[in-house]
Amino acid sequence: MTRYQRLLHDLPQTPATWLITGVAGFIGSNLLETLLGLDQWVVGLDNFSTGHPHNLEEVRQRTSAPRWARFQLIRGDIRELHDCRQAMTFAAVVPGCRPRPVEHVLHQAALGSVPRSLEDPIATNASNVDGFLNILVAARDAGVKSFTYAASSAAYGDHPGLPKIEDIVGRPLSPYAVSKYVNELYADAFARNYGLHSIGLRYFNVFGKHQDPEGAYAAVIPKWIAAMLRDEEVFIDGDGSTSRDFCHVDNAVQANLLAACAEARARNQVYNIAVGERSTLQQLFQALRQSLAKNGVRYGRAPLHRDFRPGDVRHSLADIGKARRLLGYLPQYDLRTGIAQAMPWYIARNPTSVSSSSAPAQFAAQR
Ligand SMILES: NC(=O)c1ccc[n+]([C@@H]2O[C@H](COP(=O)([O-])OP(=O)(O)OC[C@H]3O[C@@H](n4cnc5c(N)ncnc54)[C@H](O)[C@@H]3O)[C@@H](O)[C@H]2O)c1
Repeated sequence: MTRYQRLLHDLPQTPATWLITGVAGFIGSNLLETLLGLDQWVVGLDNFSTGHPHNLEEVRQRTSAPRWARFQLIRGDIRELHDCRQAMTFAAVVPGCRPRPVEHVLHQAALGSVPRSLEDPIATNASNVDGFLNILVAARDAGVKSFTYAASSAAYGDHPGLPKIEDIVGRPLSPYAVSKYVNELYADAFARNYGLHSIGLRYFNVFGKHQDPEGAYAAVIPKWIAAMLRDEEVFIDGDGSTSRDFCHVDNAVQANLLAACAEARARNQVYNIAVGERSTLQQLFQALRQSLAKNGVRYGRAPLHRDFRPGDVRHSLADIGKARRLLGYLPQYDLRTGIAQAMPWYIARNPTSVSSSSAPAQFAAQR
């Protein structure tokens, strides 16, 4: 039995209280679904700036009513210390249940995207740095047991070495990267000075269900799938040789649960969370096209190339050995199996999918 399998078995026996910030977002809502499925109590905090009520609605539809009652949503903002303090207690009225202090914090709320941060660095800083500090202070004062936060592979910046090893970082290439690296510095200072135990998870390009395909700052996988389903052009920034270590969201969920329950020697550190395999954008394009074809959707266009994006790292590949050793992290999905798992969701949720007579019936029905 892996450490994660043991955790999945043990958690329902002793339900704990969790705070997920950014709960209406992509990764936050996937964490919510897993924790409610394990009979945990969950407070969710979100200001719905990039997260969506429909992510929560989807989780509700897949969750039994008694489990859903264990979820309390706070519409609030991490830029407000008061909201962060309020989120440290599960206080919803549930029959036979008194208010429960939060034990584990999974901090996901932030403004993602390198281009967004280049356009509005002040907004990125306010949520990602000021907001992070507020959550840290509130978690410290509430005396939580564990504090796990979404760090980023952007912290590796301009260091060319591959694979990326946690201790060797370069200079950040964007305001977003600065903000995520500052999170790590603050977390470290809080561990030293206040004994707040934290773990930073440096996610590498996460993908999967609930990831927003819309808007100027959409991530590459949902954006390309949406374009392919609409039979629109797919744009590759650069010559297609840019590479990434794409990570299915269930791997990220696993890492969060393992981190929250990690033993003492694993705490107060950062970990790469990825697969440990690298794919170029050209390979990604082919993999998505093949997966769509398996689901009955044919995309016949060739991708169009345009300039590299400023602030983007050219190559990325994680060494996940540290997470494996200290957290017991074993990614469940690689790129191909992850895409195969997620594709039905992307197809079903895409409002203007191209129709195909050979598309599986359940997806056709949901269009
Ligand atoms: N998705 C990835 O590939 C990836 C990679 C590296 C790091 N990360 C980090 O992981 C975390 C989650 O990312 P995601 O992809 O789920 O993004 P997302 O945009 O889907 O989710 C972020 C959530 O935080 C909420 N939020 C933002 N600012 C807030 C504020 N001031 N107060 C309260 N809520 C606020 C948003 O409304 C949203 O629901 C972020 O911290 C992001 O920087 C993500």
